[in-house]
Amino acid sequence: MPLPVEQLRELITTDVSRWRKQNCVSLMDHSAQQIRAVLELASELKAHDLQRKSSVFWDYPRTLAMLFQKSSLRTRVSFEVSMAHLRGHAVYLSPDDVGLGIRESVADVAHGLSRWVDAITARVYHHSMVTSLAAHASVPVINALSDQEHPIQAFADLLTLQEHCGRLGNERHLAYVGDGNNVLHALLIGCAKLGVNIRAAYPKGYEPAAEYVEAALQAAQSTGAHITLSNDPAEAVHQAEAVYTDVWASMGQEHEKEERAAIFAPYQVNSALLAHAAPNAIAMHCLPAHREEEISSEVMTLHNTTIFDQAENRLHTQKALLLLILGL
Ligand code: CP
Ligand code: NVA
Repeated sequence: MPLPVEQLRELITTDVSRWRKQNCVSLMDHSAQQIRAVLELASELKAHDLQRKSSVFWDYPRTLAMLFQKSSLRTRVSFEVSMAHLRGHAVYLSPDDVGLGIRESVADVAHGLSRWVDAITARVYHHSMVTSLAAHASVPVINALSDQEHPIQAFADLLTLQEHCGRLGNERHLAYVGDGNNVLHALLIGCAKLGVNIRAAYPKGYEPAAEYVEAALQAAQSTGAHITLSNDPAEAVHQAEAVYTDVWASMGQEHEKEERAAIFAPYQVNSALLAHAAPNAIAMHCLPAHREEEISSEVMTLHNTTIFDQAENRLHTQKALLLLILGL
């Protein structure tokens, strides 16, 4: 039974006060209510496949500038397709096009783009680049991944967890095994704010940044989420409903790949590790995956559907975020 377009418009309008014209640079800046609004709208957009009717949402085609300092498949494609479904337009800018902070200062790029487009998304090496863009732009800025955080990935991860395991709250149990990186940072904050229990395990020296751990623990005080951090993958995975991993060497750390491969070997998500999880536990990966490194080929094959549901959900959650930020 399709949800009437009017009801969807209401969902967006009701949430306008929470997201309208806001940046999405870090989940630390956003409330549980805002995170839930993205997930709720994304679920509706997904369930009712409304892209063909979406011209009823925007009265003129909104535009999104996409600044990329690093490679991307999912983020670039899901944003471009989101804008196409919403009858807007995305402008992809490669590192060679812009030379952010090299050819031109971040401030001047932000000022120029603000005169042409309705929103900017940026994938950067240094998180300070995206905060600086947000500080200088007069249009909303969305973090498309920085060295510190990948907030838009967390929206898709949380929606996938909800779809496969159920309502997001204290009854959920997610394990993360691997590097204490940008993906874990966003997950820690997202889970803590929604009350989802999260246990993370990583090698010594590769822990998540203290500011993210502190912010997650702070948020968990009011939601009751249990956050457990250790160096023991089996302990983290014990009875978990979902086991998440990410690459061992992130973009910008390629030169550490061999050193990390040796250190992270005991943290591979494979069938032996998944044997500690709850029966029917799902495996999750933000992708790109490196089979036989952070995830075994066997687990990747067995959990292919879930992992690509996660990738698909990038589209629905980013479309929802764009509608909430840009309004109708
Ligand atoms: N997960 C993710 O952000 O993928 P891309 O690097 O391909 O955009
Ligand atoms: N941690 C990874 C995520 C890729 C989507 C990276 O930053 O390269």
